[in-house]
Amino acid sequence: MPELRGVKIAGLGMYAPARVLTNQQLQQMVDTSEEWIVTRTGIKERRLAEPEQATSDLALLAARQALQQAGVQPEELDLIIVATNTPDTLFPATACLVQDRLGAKKAGAFDLLAGCTGFIYALVSAAQFVQTGMCRYVLVVGAETLSRIINWQDRNTCVLFGDGAGAALLAPAEPGRGILASSLAADGSGGHLLSLPAGGSRQPASLATVEAGLHYVHMNGREVFKFAVKAMGDSALEALHRAGLGKEDLDFLIPHQANIRIIEAAAKRLGLCMDKVLVNVDRYGNTSTASVPIALYEAVAGGRIKAGDHVVLVGFGAGLTWAACAIRWD
Ligand code: UT7
Repeated sequence: MPELRGVKIAGLGMYAPARVLTNQQLQQMVDTSEEWIVTRTGIKERRLAEPEQATSDLALLAARQALQQAGVQPEELDLIIVATNTPDTLFPATACLVQDRLGAKKAGAFDLLAGCTGFIYALVSAAQFVQTGMCRYVLVVGAETLSRIINWQDRNTCVLFGDGAGAALLAPAEPGRGILASSLAADGSGGHLLSLPAGGSRQPASLATVEAGLHYVHMNGREVFKFAVKAMGDSALEALHRAGLGKEDLDFLIPHQANIRIIEAAAKRLGLCMDKVLVNVDRYGNTSTASVPIALYEAVAGGRIKAGDHVVLVGFGAGLTWAACAIRWD
């Protein structure tokens, strides 16, 4: 078998809508308090898309920035993967809308659905195309308008989520640099713990499903919490192990931003001090597939990640799914 090429992240982009929703505003909307939200989740505010903005609009802005940072033209793209739980429409794929508006004339395009783990699943999938030589440049986007599928009267969920987008441009690299190893996992028996029940083939949308609120996110927060701590710790260790690294080699962890208590517990499981962990859940809430690329963007832009650092991206989400990716930053 021919040697696989290396693959690196050559450009990053992000977009957070301008409109801020604070905890103080939320406590006027539902039976909650600023204090409860901050102590139980670490979230202080989140961003909301404008009514006319759909997921592809957010994705496009993050994508353009990633292309620009990498110095790659849209016509050079071979493939676009958009990870999202809130596509503009069930079909056509949001990736095709982005492909058209970017002018990526020779790129294939598809959406990938893996809950909040979607960006890492998409990144790992995209990397295979570059490593085998089938593609040179692949654009990976995580983008969400979760505000559209949240029941704003359900305090168990509405305080947690936000809208946003992040993007990464993958390009060939020297072997041993860039993405080193990954770990993908799923347990469909836990699918009921976090789902959007109606609107698919099992329960097509109807007046009855809307009246029952089945077009909104339904979640058993306590069970997802327990699963998340173990999944993130185990997955990060597995990706490090596959990369031939130990936890002492880890310079920086970029975890899915769902809840500061989950992040802290996962870091503790890994024996990692919090100054090696990127946290921005306080400013954006849980943006699902956008959370890891936005956090990565901010860590790189802020100079916290430098060339040669060992970085692990790790996430969990609906499915249930969980995944991690070990990178030697190039
Ligand atoms: O990307 C993956 C998406 N999902 C997640 O990451 C969610 C993971 N889970 C969590 O982050 C946490 O479980 C939550 C933040 C959702 C909840 O925190 P918790 O510490 O697990 O609280 P709990 O579910 O055990 O609920 C404690 C109490 C309940 O009241 P009772 O039954 O004890 O009287 C809730 O009704 O807190 C109540 N509660 C609230 N109170 C004020 C739940 N939501 C709120 C709220 N404001 N927004």
